[in-house]
Amino acid sequence: MARRPLVAGNWKMHKTGAEARAYAAELRALLGRGPLVPEVAVCPPFTALATAAEAFDGSAIAVLAQALHEAPQGAHTGEISAAMIAAAGATGALVGHSERRAAGETDEQVAARLRAALDAGLDVILCVGESLELREAGETRLWLARQLASALGVVAEGEERRLAIAYEPIWAIGTGRTATPQTAQEALAHVRAVAGAKLDGTALRILYGGSVTPDNAAELMAQPDADGALVGGASLEPASFRDIVRAA
Ligand code: 13P
Repeated sequence: MARRPLVAGNWKMHKTGAEARAYAAELRALLGRGPLVPEVAVCPPFTALATAAEAFDGSAIAVLAQALHEAPQGAHTGEISAAMIAAAGATGALVGHSERRAAGETDEQVAARLRAALDAGLDVILCVGESLELREAGETRLWLARQLASALGVVAEGEERRLAIAYEPIWAIGTGRTATPQTAQEALAHVRAVAGAKLDGTALRILYGGSVTPDNAAELMAQPDADGALVGGASLEPASFRDIVRAA
């Protein structure tokens, strides 16, 4: 089964609404009017979400949130619900990014947030990945299997169409130290095998993330189990992000 590649740009804590609007105009011009071969998404911070959704409206570029809280509403200062994200015009969310997990998000919260997003009609990019310490201890496969078992426990068969998994080794995020294509492929194949026990692995899209640039994107995305990329730093400039989309 042919999987349509997905390239998503995670802006992290970058860009105001005005900057998002300027970015959208530039990226739309760079990518042209026709349909895009890969699916393309950007993940602005909450404060720029509605502006970005409006600025990308009518384009083939989706707007996703970077995180969400599992509760529908309530006393959760500083948090945002799935319904709020949908109301802002976004169509999906990242769940379980390692920077959120490092700030205290637990496996249980990741699972609950994944379920809340799907229930609200949002698409999800679930992020998993090991630390350098775990990799050096030879624990990568076990760790990924554990993260996946916990999160995918709340997903039903058939929902793989609204879910992608991003494998992002923590040691490769923002470090300029990309996984080699072979290392990435091994982990991506493992993720597909583990997720395949629960979901239709041939339909599920699995992305690589971690220091993806226009220079290494083509080789990484050419791996048999890589269905695209989740891009941080190199997605902040429209031209650089366009080059990665082209590589896909
Ligand atoms: P970088 O591409 O900046 O390494 O970030 C990767 C990432 O965390 C995307 O979610």
